[in-house]
Amino acid sequence: MTINNPPTRPAEPRPHRVVPEARRSGRGLTAPRVVACYSVLDYFMPACGFDDLTDGMFEGDPHRPYEATQARQAQVLLDRAGCGPGSRVLDIGCGYGRILKAAAARGARAWGITVSPEQVTRGRRAGLEVELQDYKHLGREWDERFDAVIANGSIEHFVQPADATAGRDDRIYRHMFATVHRLLDPCSQAGRFVTTVIHVPRRPDPNDWLRPPSDFPWGSGQFHFARLTQAFGGWYPVRGQLEACAQGYFTLVHEEDGTEDYRLTSEAWLAGVRRRLRSVRGLGVWLRALPVAVRHPVATARMFRCQLGSESWNWQFHGDPAPTLLLRQTWQRVN
Ligand SMILES: C[S@@+](CC[C@H](N)C(=O)[O-])C[C@H]1O[C@@H](n2cnc3c(N)ncnc32)[C@H](O)[C@@H]1O
Repeated sequence: MTINNPPTRPAEPRPHRVVPEARRSGRGLTAPRVVACYSVLDYFMPACGFDDLTDGMFEGDPHRPYEATQARQAQVLLDRAGCGPGSRVLDIGCGYGRILKAAAARGARAWGITVSPEQVTRGRRAGLEVELQDYKHLGREWDERFDAVIANGSIEHFVQPADATAGRDDRIYRHMFATVHRLLDPCSQAGRFVTTVIHVPRRPDPNDWLRPPSDFPWGSGQFHFARLTQAFGGWYPVRGQLEACAQGYFTLVHEEDGTEDYRLTSEAWLAGVRRRLRSVRGLGVWLRALPVAVRHPVATARMFRCQLGSESWNWQFHGDPAPTLLLRQTWQRVN
């Protein structure tokens, strides 16, 4: 496995001119709602003691300590990516860099991209290679640089309900697979794309996701999905949709249902955030949150209503069957 030079650091991000053709081909603007949601989460989650934004792996043991579940998830995803000493790994939507740190500990070289400026600052402060970059606009200088690409909890943001209404979702997912295909080195032994994505079992009506939650009965599925997309900005693929869109670029080689893991992780988040915000230390958290709330009043209100009010985030993983399912998938590059 040869180590190429890292991708040259792209210039500071410029606003992308989105021509209709770019939108048609799956390359739109980064949804402002997604960026704003992380401005809020990037303050509150670490302030409440959480450095992770995806499912940990309990693997049937609900008593496994939270930190151990997150560490385990990073190791499992890196194993599936074939990551070892000298591997070149790209994490699309790297959050606070848990995967990047775990990859570096294996002797790999890891780069992360994110659309959150706060995550870039945190990552760089921790000595990680993190760029403010939407994957939809990665230039040719990133081509054939990597042995493996990971997208751990980011794909849910790539399609917006308006895209689904306009029938653009397949095109966006296909463009994503085409992008990752060109990022991977065709000579690499690994050639893996590892994803964790919340799916829906049946395609909901995307028009419902564009309506205000108050249009629906409190607690109904339509109400919760409308709250989720208002707070986070995004859309979920239907089970099997990604596989169809990957054709010609990737073959699905492994799939695992992590819904129960995500339910347990979300329970831990909810309990931990409530505990911290109600504690004496919580007063300091609230006071330091003021600049975030002033800069992003709508995003803050929506996040609180969705997370702590209706608990829509947790709702999606409850029940048998739950309204959504978390799939961890491993894709092999087709040469
Ligand atoms: C749920 S968080 C997951 C973070 C991290 N992978 C983890 O496990 O904690 C989603 C991440 O996707 C990133 N993201 C969303 N849309 C993106 C895009 N179009 N290009 C690159 N990153 C994106 C966000 O900035 C965020 O870092």
